[in-house]
Amino acid sequence: MASKILTTYERTFKSRPEKVYLSPCRINLIGEHTDYNLGLALPAAISKYISAAVGRRNDRKIYLKSLSKPYDVIVDLENISNNPKNGWGNYPLGIFSTLIKRGYKLPFGLNIVYQSNVPIASGLSSSASLLDLTGFIATNMYGFDFKPEEIALLAHQSETEFNGLQCGVMDEFAIALGKKDKCILLDCATNKYQYENIDFKDLSLVVIVSNVRRSLIASPYNTRVAECKKGLEILKPHFNISSLSELKVSDLEKCRNLIRDDTIFRRVRHVVNENQRVVDFVMASKVGNIDKMCKLLNESHESLRDDYEVTGEYLDYIHEISLKYGALAERMTGAGFGGSSIALIHKKDYESFKEKVFNDYDHKFGIEPLIFLAEICDGLIVKSL
Ligand code: GLA
Repeated sequence: MASKILTTYERTFKSRPEKVYLSPCRINLIGEHTDYNLGLALPAAISKYISAAVGRRNDRKIYLKSLSKPYDVIVDLENISNNPKNGWGNYPLGIFSTLIKRGYKLPFGLNIVYQSNVPIASGLSSSASLLDLTGFIATNMYGFDFKPEEIALLAHQSETEFNGLQCGVMDEFAIALGKKDKCILLDCATNKYQYENIDFKDLSLVVIVSNVRRSLIASPYNTRVAECKKGLEILKPHFNISSLSELKVSDLEKCRNLIRDDTIFRRVRHVVNENQRVVDFVMASKVGNIDKMCKLLNESHESLRDDYEVTGEYLDYIHEISLKYGALAERMTGAGFGGSSIALIHKKDYESFKEKVFNDYDHKFGIEPLIFLAEICDGLIVKSL
């Protein structure tokens, strides 16, 4: 993968890049739509990467090139704004703008050539990967020496303030903090985390990409954020809480009486139950209770379908046929509205499962899904040349 960006870099800039950077993407095992409610999530970085070849310039321009985009984006550091004509470039540019806004001096421009094997708009967080990657590039090239969690927060600030998506911190943390074979138990109220060894025993963790592309900014994602906020406003005077994630499952009966709007109540119910599922999942994994882990994953999908209404027909169909073809558990992962899901299947059954799900889904929708084994990996990587 790296060789193509190196040759493209050399051809475009008539010089050698100084460093190559890599950023993975992520799955989330459980704890969905909880992060912006300051709850719990259990993501992990997986080995689909965006890579970048980088070198400094003699002027103060940021020159962005992507092997998969038809146009380059060239902007002066003095003059960065979220301009629709910059298209994909608005993600990396937000990082430079956010650093400048925070008062950092960026004394020189950069040339960056990106290449990706992360399926775009697939719910595997290609955008957070691009943001973390660029945050890592900028802070490393300018010598600011940010820790992974600081890069995640920089990327998150950039995505919310510069790109306008009211997302939580999960994706940026999952990618920046990724560790081989470990999941990250993240508490989004404090941004504290711990690594968890989740043992799937003789089950394989499979990723199924629906290949229904969607942009989160154009999806009802921000509507869900607003609905949760509304629920919180109603409940605040009755419970001493500053986020929905402080509620317990045993509070839900009282919540039902307080919230007249059934939609808002169901959003709240999902968040409260989903947080509890994260706790229960980690406990079940510590005692090796695979049945319980699978049950919780399936319940998570059902709650996202029935209470949170973010699964949609493609991911629901994948859920249905995955269970039919032998998965013990299957749930959407990430934001939903199209995107991806994860499944647990006996190792010996993986190949036939893959074939059956592929053919059935393709036959039903005329879309080929992408199905692969998840390989949980390290986060951001830099190599000097
Ligand atoms: C997207 C967002 C995350 C999180 C998930 C849903 O991936 O970027 O912050 O809200 O959806 O869990």
